[in-house]
Amino acid sequence: MTIDEYVEQHIDEEPALLKQLGREAHVKLLRPRMLSGHLQGRLLKMLVQMVCPLNVLELGTYTGYSALCMAEGLEKPGAMIHTLEIDDEMEDFSRGYFEKSEYGKRICLYIGDALEIIPTFGEAYFDMAFIDADKRLYWDYFELVLPKLRRGGLIVADNTLWGGKILEPPTSNDWQTKGVIEFNEKLAGDNRVEKVILPIRDGLTLIRKK
Ligand SMILES: C[S@@+](CC[C@H](N)C(=O)[O-])C[C@H]1O[C@@H](n2cnc3c(N)ncnc32)[C@H](O)[C@@H]1O
Repeated sequence: MTIDEYVEQHIDEEPALLKQLGREAHVKLLRPRMLSGHLQGRLLKMLVQMVCPLNVLELGTYTGYSALCMAEGLEKPGAMIHTLEIDDEMEDFSRGYFEKSEYGKRICLYIGDALEIIPTFGEAYFDMAFIDADKRLYWDYFELVLPKLRRGGLIVADNTLWGGKILEPPTSNDWQTKGVIEFNEKLAGDNRVEKVILPIRDGLTLIRKK
């Protein structure tokens, strides 16, 4: 048994609908590994429960797996996940699962570019944000999201260890690795926030706005 298998056997079970989503993603989609999965999904749900947000922003819906996990953790009346996805070909897949889920009514899906949609929200509108879209643009997303987050709010950024590639100098055309390295370096020196990198899965950075 691997450590990952051990962990998954000793945490809360993955809900049946999310197992089905994962199976369908592996059959039908090109990059199913992009979805959060069992461990990260349970963690996202727990973080939402701890923050107790009214509004959560997600950058990068993909199949809707992480949005569904976060929606499961919402407790306040009227609380919502606002999730942004640039690829309109994913809309039928994610909306189909939002409709099947008892938590789908707590999710508002926006199809479009996060860089254009985020500025349309009011200042300090969000209590929590999950950054999981284009790795090349992580710092741009962060700068756009921070003013939209209330003081004490939480940003979670995914893939910040990027398969370990952040340890080596990137090749000249590897813009995703460059984007993650830029994000990690700028964030480390940013006094507007507190930050911790959790080395689970592909690296998850927790960022608290001071
Ligand atoms: C890693 S996947 C998201 C996975 C999902 N959050 C989960 O954990 O299950 C990244 C998604 O971000 C989307 N994306 C990339 N750039 C974007 C942008 N500028 N605005 C909105 N979505 C974007 C991609 O199309 C892709 O579906």
